[in-house]
Amino acid sequence: MRIMTVCLGNICRSPAAEAVLNHKLAEAGLADEVTVTSAGTADYHVGDQPHELTREVGGELGYEFPTVGVHLAAAHLDEADLILVMDGANLADARALTDDVDIQAKVRLLGEFASDADTAGVREVPDPYGHPRAQFEDMYRQIEDAADGVVVAIRDGRL
Ligand code: 4NP
Repeated sequence: MRIMTVCLGNICRSPAAEAVLNHKLAEAGLADEVTVTSAGTADYHVGDQPHELTREVGGELGYEFPTVGVHLAAAHLDEADLILVMDGANLADARALTDDVDIQAKVRLLGEFASDADTAGVREVPDPYGHPRAQFEDMYRQIEDAADGVVVAIRDGRL
C-alpha cells in the first residue's frame, strides 16, 4: 500500500505526518507493507528540507526526516492508494488535479482517522507555518492521534 501525505508547502504538516506514520507503521510491523511519502500542493519549497521547527520538535519526539519538498502532481494521485490531506484547501487542490472520480476518492482528510472524529467531527490540521513552537507541538499531537487511527485501520483491513 502506498500513502502520500499532502499539505500546502510540504515543509510542516505533510512531512510531519509522513515521519509519524513511518515511525508508527514500523512499530506495528507494517513497514514492509506500507510506504509513506509526502508532497505539497504549492511548489514554494521544492527540494527544501522540512521547516526547522518541524525537524526540531519532531526530532525530539523520535522522528526522522529523510525527504525534501515535492510538488504534488496528477501522477502522484495515480500511483498512491491513499492521499491524506491536512485541510479543506488541500482536499480541493489535490482533487482538482484529476477529473477521475475514483482517483479523487483516494484523497481524504487525515482528520477522518482522529480518535474523536466520530463525536467531534472531522477536523483540519491547522497550518503552523509562521507560528511559534507551541503550534508545531499541537500539530504533532493531532497528527500522532490520527496516525494511530490510520495504523489501526490498515491493521483491521479497513484501508
Ligand atoms: P505546510 O505549511 O503546508 O504545513 O507545509 C506551509 C509552509 C510554507 C508555506 C505555507 C504553508 N508558504 O507559504 O511558504
